Amino acid sequence: METLKIIKDNNPLLRKKSVEVTMPLSKEDRDTLLKMLNYLKLSQDPEYLEKHPKVREGIGLAAPQIGLLKRMLVIYFKHDEEEITHVLVNPTIISNSARKCVLKSGEGCLSVDEPHEGVVYRDYKIKVKAYDALKEKDVTIVAAGIEAIVLQHEIDHLNGILYYDRINKMNPNFIPEGFVEI
Ligand code: CO
Repeated sequence: METLKIIKDNNPLLRKKSVEVTMPLSKEDRDTLLKMLNYLKLSQDPEYLEKHPKVREGIGLAAPQIGLLKRMLVIYFKHDEEEITHVLVNPTIISNSARKCVLKSGEGCLSVDEPHEGVVYRDYKIKVKAYDALKEKDVTIVAAGIEAIVLQHEIDHLNGILYYDRINKMNPNFIPEGFVEI
């Protein structure tokens, strides 16, 4: 399979705002999304990783990370025996909880090679509207915890934001009281 080239955070494209995808979804855009999904699945396959040492394991990928400034993203991971897959076009967060959370280990990104110490404050629960290119229909996703974090991280990419922009420089590991630690 033709492999995708992931751009890194020294590339100014990652700082641009992506544009809305024209609907109905073109075959080209759908194929791109399926390639991105396949990339994530392969990146979680130990055998594939052994043969491709430069590939890093990922659970989310946004179109700007392959140099395409379109509002599209893919999420794929297994959590509590459950497979979570989202292949989304024009996602919008329509509501969010007052409760916040952090990923205790800190976040990572396929476009960021150097580690950035610190936690990222995220909404614990969000509601997202989007077109799902796998289900081929509009969807409303209610996500909490890790799923909500990954969605927020990927939607940030569509707005030119990287996770470390959100780390408090003065006190990177500070977790306020009441935050859910994941
Ligand atoms: Co990322």
